[in-house]
Amino acid sequence: MPATKMKSILVIHGPNLNRLGRREPEIYGRHTLADIDAELVQAGNALGVDVQTFQSNHEGELVDRIQQAAEEVDGLIINPAAYTHTSVALRDALLMLDIPVIEVHLSNIYRREAFRHHSMTAPAATGQIAGLGKNGYLLALEALVRMATDAP
Ligand code: DQA
Repeated sequence: MPATKMKSILVIHGPNLNRLGRREPEIYGRHTLADIDAELVQAGNALGVDVQTFQSNHEGELVDRIQQAAEEVDGLIINPAAYTHTSVALRDALLMLDIPVIEVHLSNIYRREAFRHHSMTAPAATGQIAGLGKNGYLLALEALVRMATDAP
């Protein structure tokens, strides 16, 4: 692939995603967050991109990390988890960013309960991937790199 301007990507995971593997595995899969993060770092290495990961159960900490990302990284992947459906604060933090943002959900939020159908944060994102399990994160990573790569 030709040179990419995407040098570093941050992956943010919201509340309860630290329990992946044990949390409703029939919905979220059996992979732990550590498994997913390790796979993302490895995929980043293969694409020549530095991948950092961050998880918090606290809305304010997620806002702080998004604000920090503005100075530090070239792209953001975020699964805001339950805050997807409620958080004006996360939406506003994402709106301040000048970098591409991909919102990822492990499950297909549109075929679940009605309250999950609405995302407060998606209008602040470049795009969204939902329902593809952990592959959604890997595809988001690849998309960010492709979006920042000069066509041959
Ligand atoms: C989720 C979907 C949300 O509705 C839920 O609250 C989560 C995980 C997903 O990845 O499918 O915690 O973001």
